[in-house]
Amino acid sequence: ATFTEKQEALVKESWELMKQNIPELSVRFFTTVIEIAPQVKPMFSFLKDTDEIPQNNPKLKAHAMKVFKMTCESAVQLREKGEVVVPDSTLAYMGAVHVKKGVIDPHFEVVKEALLRTLESGLGDKWNEEMKGAWSEAYDQLATAIKDEMKAER
Ligand code: HEM
Repeated sequence: ATFTEKQEALVKESWELMKQNIPELSVRFFTTVIEIAPQVKPMFSFLKDTDEIPQNNPKLKAHAMKVFKMTCESAVQLREKGEVVVPDSTLAYMGAVHVKKGVIDPHFEVVKEALLRTLESGLGDKWNEEMKGAWSEAYDQLATAIKDEMKAER
């Protein structure tokens, strides 16, 4: 199935709304990740030594932002080119970091679920099934690119 202009617009519009409150979005995203899969906590430098999710941590914000922003960029690429194209150097770096930190493929489903739940709670009644489908598709394609690179790294 092709990624439509409508789907691209849904992702971009909802990201515009979400990014107005990055501190809250980041904390909510990581809180959800840890709720779904507490076992991933020790992998993150900014979570491993605390019982609480730190409120203003630059690294936490950076990871949350990367997940949302790169998914949004993937939506644009899917519509423009029909595929997700991450620059080789970025992909190589991400592959290496995730392998080194002990990330495995099923963790990507955890992050996907947390992404979708964060969007749902942030957007309230603006969230809908079509938006969910568009974010899911863009995320899945991005995650596949990262997972393939991780396989190549191992
Ligand atoms: C680090 C992106 C999924 C765990 C990073 C970095 C990037 C990134 C760019 C490097 C950060 C830096 O050095 O500045 C992404 C994207 C993802 C994704 C776009 C999904 C589309 C995941 C998943 C996990 C994970 C599924 C595991 C649950 C980590 C960890 C680090 C990291 C533990 C090191 C963070 C630290 O301790 O500072 N990620 N990631 N990532 N990622 Fe991901």
